[in-house]
Amino acid sequence: MSRKILVTSALPYANGPLHLGHLLESIQTDIWVRYQKLRGNDCIYLCADDAHGTAIMLTAEKLGITPEEQIARVKAEHERDLAGFHIRFDNYHSTHSRECQHYSEEIYRRLDANGHIERRDVTQLFDPEKNLFLADRYIKGTCPKCKTDDQYGDNCEACGATYTPAELINPRSAISGATPIEKSSTHFFFKLGDFENLLRNWTSSDALQPQIANKLREWLDAGLQSWDISRDAPYFGFEIPGAPGKFFYVWLDAPIGYMASCANWCEKNGRDFDEYWGTDSTAELYHFIGKDIINFHGLFWPAMLDSAGFRQPTAIFAHGFLTVNGKKMSKSRGTFIKAETYLKHLPAEYLRYYFAAKLSGAVDDIDLNLEDFINRVNSDLVGKLVNIASRSAKFVQKGNDGKLSTTQHNATLWQQVTGAGESIAELYEQREYSKAVREIMALADATNEYFDACEPWKLAKSDDTIGQAADVASQCIDIFRVLATYLSPVLPELAKQAEQFLNIPLTWQGEFAPLHNHSIEPFKAMMSRVDADKVAAMVEESSDNSPAPTPAAKPKKAAKDKDSGIADTIAYPDFAKIDLRVAEIVAAEAVEGADKLLKLTLSLGDLGTRQVFAGIKTAYNAEQLVGKLTVMVANLEARKMRFGMSEGMVLAAGPGDQEIWLLSPDSGAKAGMKIQ
Ligand code: MSP
Ligand code: ZN
Repeated sequence: MSRKILVTSALPYANGPLHLGHLLESIQTDIWVRYQKLRGNDCIYLCADDAHGTAIMLTAEKLGITPEEQIARVKAEHERDLAGFHIRFDNYHSTHSRECQHYSEEIYRRLDANGHIERRDVTQLFDPEKNLFLADRYIKGTCPKCKTDDQYGDNCEACGATYTPAELINPRSAISGATPIEKSSTHFFFKLGDFENLLRNWTSSDALQPQIANKLREWLDAGLQSWDISRDAPYFGFEIPGAPGKFFYVWLDAPIGYMASCANWCEKNGRDFDEYWGTDSTAELYHFIGKDIINFHGLFWPAMLDSAGFRQPTAIFAHGFLTVNGKKMSKSRGTFIKAETYLKHLPAEYLRYYFAAKLSGAVDDIDLNLEDFINRVNSDLVGKLVNIASRSAKFVQKGNDGKLSTTQHNATLWQQVTGAGESIAELYEQREYSKAVREIMALADATNEYFDACEPWKLAKSDDTIGQAADVASQCIDIFRVLATYLSPVLPELAKQAEQFLNIPLTWQGEFAPLHNHSIEPFKAMMSRVDADKVAAMVEESSDNSPAPTPAAKPKKAAKDKDSGIADTIAYPDFAKIDLRVAEIVAAEAVEGADKLLKLTLSLGDLGTRQVFAGIKTAYNAEQLVGKLTVMVANLEARKMRFGMSEGMVLAAGPGDQEIWLLSPDSGAKAGMKIQ
């Protein structure tokens, strides 16, 4: 029976551009939603911009526009970027909306009527020039511990000390520079402590991942403080009913934005809001969020919903943070990569695939290692998956007029591939995408091995056996169809191209029936290798660094002469970074205009082929190299040479000229094998 499911991603702040960290979340969510839809569930994906707060108000002021103009600009950019990554929302709304105001006021009224709101005076630092209460991050001053100047109101970046803004030496407003004064005003608090029982039950239900449940329990054990939900004017947000000059704190109406987006969608689509949010709703409700905002979703939100008479979320799905090359994203390293910048240089699906290949149902951080990214996409998507279709298509065209044969050439493999469907489905359901991807790629490997073992290129040479070549290729293409279907939640564009090539929509409901005697289209390239230059250009554009230091400023490299002794010791991880592979030289030719270079075409088996320029012409003839196995550095950054791109390096010993000896593995090694 079809399930009814409402899914959300956290609402991005309308105060700046989206970066790849945001995309980790939207891609994770989008894959899950696409999977649910593909399986025939009635699933909707809602999101919105989180448009309120002091930061947005100040940004607009700086730009000389109204906050409304500012949030409209940013929303358009967010929607453009998200669409660029094929994030398919059913609705993308805003917290600065009629619906959000309605539900915020309504929920607040119910909390107040139920006695869960208290009013209390609070003394805070105040900017007398801007007439503005200052949150900690808007106060700067000298660290009381180490005396470093220009530190924020709550912690020192120099010595790590934490303190209250009142302890800062020479505090000043980061907005106007004025010396803040202390001022008292009435704030509204939501009495979270009233919900301890509800929250204790919730943390022991299976709605939460174990790590999250533990964290929430720690907070519960420490005692639940009332939550300050009001801010004084000037503030960009909704005024609290019956309290002129008091506004809802941005985090009060932020999750209500989920409801607002839903109400807006229901209205546009003639659906019933209560079916999703009423206490007797039978729909499932899931919030995908980052680990930094679990207190809001795991404590305040369930309590608010409960008190206001709405249903509880079915589960919260929290994910970890994105790091790039093992570190926090950083502008100086060029790894604070905006969604827009990525899309200027690289196709969205590469990142969707890479994230899928790393994501699990746990809350662990995810690293985008840019080298690994290049290798992963090239070897899995280009070298394995698309390779099945590209190498098979011509045999179906030649051997059977572009029609898939009527025979099941390898029933065992077909059974293996289609039989894996239910376990792959369950992995998607559990958000164990990395495991799903691994399983799908293992099936792609098996398919390529079967293709290799049948050697259809040999069968196609004779008219007697060309039909058999078409049978093998048909089998592979039909399997490609199933694999592309399995991956379609991750790779929706590739799935579209596969549909065009296969001349049939990809569906995944019930058993896969084999596709026999069916005309396919001629194969068109579906995906190209990741170009390392493009990745470098993306990093370059993301970097706020001044130009790289001139060579003179760099430390001098050790002389490279032959008797300079053994090089400095390196740690194993440094060695492990070098991806050495067995490579077969499938073609070699002299390069016109270069007296030392040979242009080599190297096969890495299933990983595809590479072109490498090697300075070995003084020692080898091109002809004698063809068919030889050698060793190459497969993950060396590609280099543009006068004669073309060189995509790696072959290894050789000797001082030069005639004395160059190419390395080769013992017999038995196969092209593509890793050397370790
Ligand atoms: N506006 C709030 C969410 C309100 S939800 C009712 C907010 N916005 S945000 O723009 O800062 O973040 C939006 C989402 O992106 C959050 O789930 C956050 O955890 C996630 N991420 C932001 N940076 C991230 C990484 N570097 N890595 C992974 N996720 C990250 O919080
Ligand atoms: Zn300090």
